[in-house]
Amino acid sequence: MTTRTPGAESDLEAAFQRDMSPAEFRRHGYAAVDLAAAYLEQVASLPPLARVEPGAVAAALPGKPPRVGEPMEAIMADIGNLLIPASTHWNHPRFFAYFNSSAAGAGILGELLTATLNANAMLWRTGPAATELEWVVCRWLARMTGLPDTFDGHINDTASSSTLVALAAAREAAGLEVRELGLAGRPELPALRVYASDQAHSSVEKAVVTLGLGRTGFRAVASDEEFRMDPRALAQAIEADLQAGHRPCAVVATVGTTASTSIDPVDEIATICERHGLWLHIDAAHGGALAILPERRGVFAGVSRAQSVVMNPHKWLFTPLDCSVLLTTRPEVLRRAFSLVPDYLATPEADRDQGFGARNLMDFGVSLGRRMRALKLWMVLRYFGQEGLERLLRSHLAMAGWLRAQLEAASDWEMCAPMPMSTLCFRHHPGRLTSEAELEAHNRDLMARVNAAGEVFISHAVLAGHFVLRATIGGLRTEPQDVAVLWEQLQTAARGADGQGGA
Ligand SMILES: Cc1ncc(COP(=O)(O)O)c(C=O)c1O
Repeated sequence: MTTRTPGAESDLEAAFQRDMSPAEFRRHGYAAVDLAAAYLEQVASLPPLARVEPGAVAAALPGKPPRVGEPMEAIMADIGNLLIPASTHWNHPRFFAYFNSSAAGAGILGELLTATLNANAMLWRTGPAATELEWVVCRWLARMTGLPDTFDGHINDTASSSTLVALAAAREAAGLEVRELGLAGRPELPALRVYASDQAHSSVEKAVVTLGLGRTGFRAVASDEEFRMDPRALAQAIEADLQAGHRPCAVVATVGTTASTSIDPVDEIATICERHGLWLHIDAAHGGALAILPERRGVFAGVSRAQSVVMNPHKWLFTPLDCSVLLTTRPEVLRRAFSLVPDYLATPEADRDQGFGARNLMDFGVSLGRRMRALKLWMVLRYFGQEGLERLLRSHLAMAGWLRAQLEAASDWEMCAPMPMSTLCFRHHPGRLTSEAELEAHNRDLMARVNAAGEVFISHAVLAGHFVLRATIGGLRTEPQDVAVLWEQLQTAARGADGQGGA
């Protein structure tokens, strides 16, 4: 009796193309790496801000997916001809907008290998290497920034998610049985309050809204003239809420605010939190990287007193998007807030962390499936080493210092905020302009000119009601000549905006 493979002789089987062969994978893989290398080699010659009209990319793409598969060559050609020209180039050395997110080669290759392994670390057994590597790199980052081993960690996609998870844990720690009973229809429940400075990132308020506390549950605490949270205003806000019968729940302090990179006085804030039994979460999404420098470790003063800290290696640590490390001294509270194990996911091992990160990561947040994000971070940290990262960060501080000196030496430019990191807030202030409205219109025009010229990309902020220009020097590929180009472009645009030609 002969055995036949089911369906082996069917037309379907004959015509059915499974994945590319290993030989094809190699060929296309080399082509993809060539494309990536050529891109990185040439990115400096492209305009950093995409020159494309809304809708143009969608219009250039077919509305329907292909009925039959297409050759990789055609797909790659579209990436080169259509997608790259319509991209804003975060890897550009003269991308100075927002907070940089530049990807190191080691991290780019890490993404390739993450997709190759395709490990889903929802459970320890579905990704032992991914799970334990994640714990190890989080501990590395804690140690590199001077935090004690009492901090445990895991990786989320973004700081927005990390802060949401931290505040969900804070809500759980408040002991109001929200996990069991919810918030709605409970008149006996006090209104919960979360505090952050008026400079905090919008992700904090968004998390408060998502957690059902309402926008009134978010309290914006006044900041001082250097844009740092005023601890007296925090203490007063907490007292006022207590007197009104509300329940203070958590404080979010920021190390490196979005607009000016100001640093909240974490030690003083921690004392207030300890007095009232509040969860302290630190948003160090961008600024945490600076604590890697021994001489700047002071930016993390008091942070070891927090219950949770978020740092984004995808911002100032050269790891490709997305990679947000959430450190916490209370992992058991995160687990209490999020663990919900259906029968099919119950496993005999690693229900409890035995101290080496062997746990089921699905228990620590919203998502079940989880990418092996730790791999690229591990590769970046190993490739540069502590010293390499220190050198890069110091070079950013030095370049920012140079630009600041130019701005301060020029009579018609002004710095608009202190510069605790490598982000500058400044504006052009010709003597003939006196009103705030004129100054804003002038600087908006100037920014539009700078960005349209296609050499650099800067963004803006609003500080104490004033519109200011903003440049972050933090790109992996940024060198002194790039910052010199930025300064030239600013001056040229200023002449143009003044109606003296140029730009
Ligand atoms: C201080 C701060 N926190 C949080 C975020 C949000 O980061 P993500 O995009 O990772 O959610 C940002 C974004 O720039 C930020 O500046």
